[in-house]
Amino acid sequence: MPDSHRIEALPKLVGQTVAVRGWVMTTRSSGKIAFVVLRDGTGYLQAVVSKKDVPDAAWEAFGRLTQETSIEVRGALRADARAPGGVELQASDLGILGASADFPITPKEHGTAFLFEHRHLWLRSRRQVAIARVRHEVIQAIRDFFHERGFVLVDTPILTGSIGEHAGTLFATDYFDLGKAYLAQTGQLYVEAAAAALGKVYCFGPTFRAEKSKTRRHLTEFWMVEPEVAWNDSNDNMKLQEDFVSYIIARCLERRKTELAELERDTAPLERVAPPFPRVSYTEAVEKLKALGSEMEWGRDLGGDEETLLAKQFDRPVMVYDYPRAVKAFYMKANPADPRTVLNNDCLAPEGYGEIIGGSQREDDYDKLLARIRAEGLPEEAYGWYLDLRKYGTFVHSGFGLGVERTVAWICGIPHIREAIAFPRTLYKLWP
Ligand code: 4AD
Ligand code: MG
Repeated sequence: MPDSHRIEALPKLVGQTVAVRGWVMTTRSSGKIAFVVLRDGTGYLQAVVSKKDVPDAAWEAFGRLTQETSIEVRGALRADARAPGGVELQASDLGILGASADFPITPKEHGTAFLFEHRHLWLRSRRQVAIARVRHEVIQAIRDFFHERGFVLVDTPILTGSIGEHAGTLFATDYFDLGKAYLAQTGQLYVEAAAAALGKVYCFGPTFRAEKSKTRRHLTEFWMVEPEVAWNDSNDNMKLQEDFVSYIIARCLERRKTELAELERDTAPLERVAPPFPRVSYTEAVEKLKALGSEMEWGRDLGGDEETLLAKQFDRPVMVYDYPRAVKAFYMKANPADPRTVLNNDCLAPEGYGEIIGGSQREDDYDKLLARIRAEGLPEEAYGWYLDLRKYGTFVHSGFGLGVERTVAWICGIPHIREAIAFPRTLYKLWP
C-alpha cells in the first residue's frame, strides 16, 4: 500500500500533505462542509471535508461513512490547539477501504453482558484502548525494573506435574501415559530452582486457577510476575516489593497521563505511592480490624472486605506480614519467633483493590518442608525435585507474585479486573 502516517506522528508534520488510514468514529456535516473523526489506535484525528476541495467520488464516499468504516483520507495538516493531538486535516481526498454496516456498539449505553459478548469489537472504544495502553506500560515497566537490577528472566512451564499452590483450584488435563498435567497456578517452585542457578530471577506468564468465585478480583487465567531472590529474607522481600510497585506507578504517571485522563482517573492517590509502605503484622491487623468493628478473628484469612477496611486506614499500599500458617501455602517458612505463623506478606492496594502481591520467605529446611508437604496431603513423589533444593546447598530465599490485572485495574481505577485484560476468562466467560 502507498505510504501513510500513524496519527501519533502527525503533530510533527504540520504543513505537509499526508495520508492517514483508520476507522470512523463519528461524522457530521452542515451542507457543503463535513467532519469525520477517525482513530487508528495511536490517536484520534478530525478531518474536514469541503465539497469544493475534494473529487465528487470522495464527497459521495463521505455520505456512505458509518461507524467503524475503515477509510483513507489524504490532505494538508494544520495546527489546531482545540483538536485532539493539536492537529486537524483538511481533506483533499477520501476513500472507503472497508464498509461497516450496523456496528453493534453505538455511543448509547450498553449493558456489561452485551459489551463482553462483543469484547472483540468493544476493544476499539476509547476507554478500552486507554486501558490496553496502561497495561502495556505496566508490563514494560515490570520488565525494565528487573532488567535494570540484573535479574534473569526464566520461563517456567505451564504444563506441570506438581501442585504449586492449592489442590482446590487446579485445571487438569490428561497427559499421555504420564497421568494428569496441571495448568500452572504459579511458576514459583521452578524459579526457586533457577534462583540457586542464577541468584536473581523472575518468571512472567499466564497462570491458571479454577476459581469458582465471582468476585471482581478473580479471573481463571491471569498474568503474574514472580521474582525469586537468593539470600533475601522476608524483610528484604518487602523492600523489593515496595520499590517495585512504586516504580510501576511512577512510570504510568509519567508516560500514560493521556490514558489516565481518558479514564478520568484521579491520580492524587497514585502520586502518594512511594516507599516505605506501612507494615502491620497479621496479628496487629486483626486487632485493628476488631477495633474498627469487624468480626475478624485470629486464624482466619483476610477476606476482600477486611482487606478494603484495613487498607483504608493508610494513604498508600500496606504490607501485612506473618499470617497464620494454616491459611497459607505449604512452602512458606515457619516463623522462628511464633511457629503458628509464617514469614510471608501480602501487599494490599488502597481504594478497595485489595491484595496485589503475595510473597514469602521459603521453607529452606528439608525436614520441615517434607513435614508440610505430608501434612497438606500433597503427593510426596511429585516434590522430590523441589526437596532436592533443600538437600544440595540449601539457601535463604524469598520471592513474590504480583497479579498484572489487579495492578492494572487499580492504576486505571476500573471497578472490575475483567476489563484489565483483552479477553478475560472467568467462570462464565470462554468466548470470544
Ligand atoms: O498470593 P498468590 O496466590 O501467590 C502465589 O501464587 C505465589 N506463588 C507467588 C510467589 O510467591 N511467587 O498470588 C499472587 C498474586 C495475588 O496477589 C493476585 O494479585 C494475583 O496473583 N492473583 C490473581 N489475580 C487474578 N485472579 C486470580 N484468581 C488471582 N489469584 C491470584
Ligand atoms: Mg495470595
